[in-house]
Amino acid sequence: MMELLQVAKVYQKNSHRIAALENITLHISRGEFVLVCGPSGSGKSTLLLTLGAMIQPSAGAVRFNGREIHRATEKERTLFRRQHLGFVFQMFNLLPYMTVLENVLMGQVLRQPGDEATARQWLERLHLQDRLQHKPSELSVGECQRVAMARALIKKPQMLLADEPTGNLDAANAGQILTALSEYHRQGGTVVMVTHGSIGAIRADRTVYLEQGKLVA
Ligand SMILES: Nc1ncnc2c1ncn2[C@@H]1O[C@H](COP(=O)(O)OP(=O)(O)OP(=O)(O)O)[C@@H](O)[C@H]1O
Ligand SMILES: [Mg+2]
Repeated sequence: MMELLQVAKVYQKNSHRIAALENITLHISRGEFVLVCGPSGSGKSTLLLTLGAMIQPSAGAVRFNGREIHRATEKERTLFRRQHLGFVFQMFNLLPYMTVLENVLMGQVLRQPGDEATARQWLERLHLQDRLQHKPSELSVGECQRVAMARALIKKPQMLLADEPTGNLDAANAGQILTALSEYHRQGGTVVMVTHGSIGAIRADRTVYLEQGKLVA
């Protein structure tokens, strides 16, 4: 479904050159659950942003169902993300001036009747039913993380990209997130999840390891 072919990403900052990804070839099949592990700075978020067409690779190809995403226009990439992807960012990217409920509804591109009820259900499952009218600044970090997960799941994307979605959570709430992810996966969803910790509770189909921008065996 998704392929990276010899992808490289170089960040040029002042006179400094950082090779964040080097020669990455990775195939992700439909319905697969892939864990991406590696130390801080190894390129995990960069890899996920590349899969999500949010950054352009410096070299190589990115294909989704055979389509060359890296060659698409910015507009086409935006449409691709909206139609097919759910994304939980490491820094959440919630809209600060909107309530929890409104933030989750933002995940739905085309609003339909019943969306608000679905959003409330997701928020209840993630134990946020008493925070619907809060703004992100009024929430704990772990609560923001759960709002971001609800926002990603509400549109039932073909592929969900999650960057450390349990990083700030206690065991019980991390469990809720992982259960929600597993259920999405069981129903046919494709997951690529980044973590630098060991996640005992999750049963991934495959784990890939990054070290200094390279995939290691
Ligand atoms: N926009 C950017 N401009 C310049 N350098 C960047 C940029 N984004 C990331 N980098 C650098 O690229 C490397 C990989 O960063 P990345 O965020 O992918 O790491 P990571 O594996 O997700 O780390 P962490 O576990 O800490 O989140 C790092 O050395 C980082 O400093
Ligand atoms: Mg990261």
